[in-house]
Amino acid sequence: MNLGGIERLRDRAVEEIRAAVDAAALESARVKYLGRKGSVTLLMPALKDVPPAERPEVGRALNALKIAVQEALEARKAELQTQSRGAGQPFDHTLPGEWRGLGTIHPISRLIERASEIFRAMGFTVADGPDIETVRNNFDALNTPEDHPSRDPSDTFYLENGDLLRCQTSPVQVRYMEAHPPPARIIAPGRCYRRDTPDATHSANFHQIEGLYVDQQVSLADLKGDLTYFARRLFGAGVALRFRPHFFPFTEPSVEVDASCHVCGGRGCRVCKQSGWIEIAGAGMVHPNVFRAVGYDRHEVVGYAFGMGIERMAMILYGVPDIRLLYENDLRYLTQFGAGV
Ligand code: PHE
Repeated sequence: MNLGGIERLRDRAVEEIRAAVDAAALESARVKYLGRKGSVTLLMPALKDVPPAERPEVGRALNALKIAVQEALEARKAELQTQSRGAGQPFDHTLPGEWRGLGTIHPISRLIERASEIFRAMGFTVADGPDIETVRNNFDALNTPEDHPSRDPSDTFYLENGDLLRCQTSPVQVRYMEAHPPPARIIAPGRCYRRDTPDATHSANFHQIEGLYVDQQVSLADLKGDLTYFARRLFGAGVALRFRPHFFPFTEPSVEVDASCHVCGGRGCRVCKQSGWIEIAGAGMVHPNVFRAVGYDRHEVVGYAFGMGIERMAMILYGVPDIRLLYENDLRYLTQFGAGV
């Protein structure tokens, strides 16, 4: 073995590899030179017979030979692959493209965005709070009596450390007022959790938008006006709201708010359970005990608060007959909401 021989072998191998017409010819060239009994492979053990003085140089030449053959193989392989994909052929515009599947925004997220936009235009800012809350923020500071049924572990999810998964977005009122002096004008969209058995209108995991407006002169008329304006912007000018007296520990007086059914226009259908109305919110004037708990002077300020059910509004807006459709992650259903609100 000498340097000249190694060089000739390299030239021969590279030439043969470059001439390989297809993958099979390329493979047999690889076996011929680099296979277990290939001529390059067989040269390697012969290095020990080279006189020691020449061994380093011959060793380097052998390495270079092997690398040159490997590189030639790779290069030809890439060339053959591009050829088989038709490179160099005229581009065929009629071939179907590769469809990656474009994501769409979930109807709940879309609705939160749209509702926030409307409230922002009305002068509200968006506040936020955690899903895991203290009993104090979720119940105590909201004037909820010790024996109120919503505190029961059969209604609310408690953690081992005594905290809970908030069953409403109302604790954000507490957090916000404790961190900011009055006036306050916020909404707080977010996730809520209740031990409800899922059915067409209930889910253990749902969303609310909390609203809070506190200032020196705020009245129930403001609440009615603001919610009506909001509903008209969201559902369209034809929507009617109905305010029914109700009870919440943290508001006095309290109301429940129904919207006329957007799906049937109030005539009665499956979505509104033939009543023509769908409950969308609980609301009322902030209870003095809540102001006391957060350190606001109840003689200085008044305010209203509301909590709207986002799924309910989605059902009205999109005509969703069953709340579970929003959570089953069936893309055939969810991708229908691709465009606009
Ligand atoms: N937190 C109440 C609920 O989840 C709704 C509500 C919010 C009522 C604010 C009044 C004021 O039912």
